[in-house]
Amino acid sequence: MEELIQRVVELIRQSKKVIVFTGAGVSTESGIPDFRSPGGVWHKYNPEDFYYQKFISSEESREKYWQMSREFYEPIKSAQPNAAHRAVVELEKTGKLDCVITQNVDNLHQRAGSSPEKVIELHGTAVSVSCLTCRKKYPREEIQSWLLRGVRVPKCDTCGGILKPDTVSFGQAMPPRETEESFRRARNCDLLIVIGSSLVVQPAASIPLEARESGAKLVIINRDPTYHDSYAEVVIHGPAGEVMDRIMDGLKSGNRA
Ligand code: APR
Repeated sequence: MEELIQRVVELIRQSKKVIVFTGAGVSTESGIPDFRSPGGVWHKYNPEDFYYQKFISSEESREKYWQMSREFYEPIKSAQPNAAHRAVVELEKTGKLDCVITQNVDNLHQRAGSSPEKVIELHGTAVSVSCLTCRKKYPREEIQSWLLRGVRVPKCDTCGGILKPDTVSFGQAMPPRETEESFRRARNCDLLIVIGSSLVVQPAASIPLEARESGAKLVIINRDPTYHDSYAEVVIHGPAGEVMDRIMDGLKSGNRA
């Protein structure tokens, strides 16, 4: 592991424009379950039930969605950034970080101190809810309090419209600006570091490959193997917090491989 850590330190040193690409695995050490690991969200719930088309087409689907969301939001609400999030803040301070592209909706990069303008939330955010009719926006906390008081399907208190968290559901259109900017920046970086993603969900999972095909070096830090491991310059199968801590220590210590 130490040798792999040093190789990543060297790659960061040689780079001017580094992108950090994160998934749910960067937040499990903050107590938020990921999706596809044993005990993950999709081991408890069937993702087929949460497609956008189902959500907007039936009250029953919305009730099922909000039941899952009410449970999923609690660990997000109480979570604190962990060592991996803090390491990304440290990387930003080196001036080499171009941006953080995250699939996460937990706002933990920003809460750790990453500059909000450097964080691209590809799958939206869980901290706000919008009416799909009048676009009124609510803090998630408010809607969570409705749900905890027994409301089964929250409705807009202005127009009666359907309320939905500002996250991107399966089958829902990706946010155009965030998606376009992520691919554009991936084409212009010289190093992309994946932290905690199985890299199975598209189009997000194509972003690291876009960077590599544009000449950037690819590093993957993930507890389990991913389908993209063979494309990476360095692959570290280990815990995000510890690995990122050691990489930043190596970078700061100035020791060479
Ligand atoms: N350190 C390193 N890796 C970890 C850790 C950890 N502490 N905990 C989990 N992992 C790894 C797991 O091995 C797994 O491969 O993180 C990965 C998380 O993968 P997924 O659960 O598939 O999450 P993600 O890749 O973010 O999913 C993408 O799918 O369900 C949708 O919209 C949702 O944004 C999400 C998207």
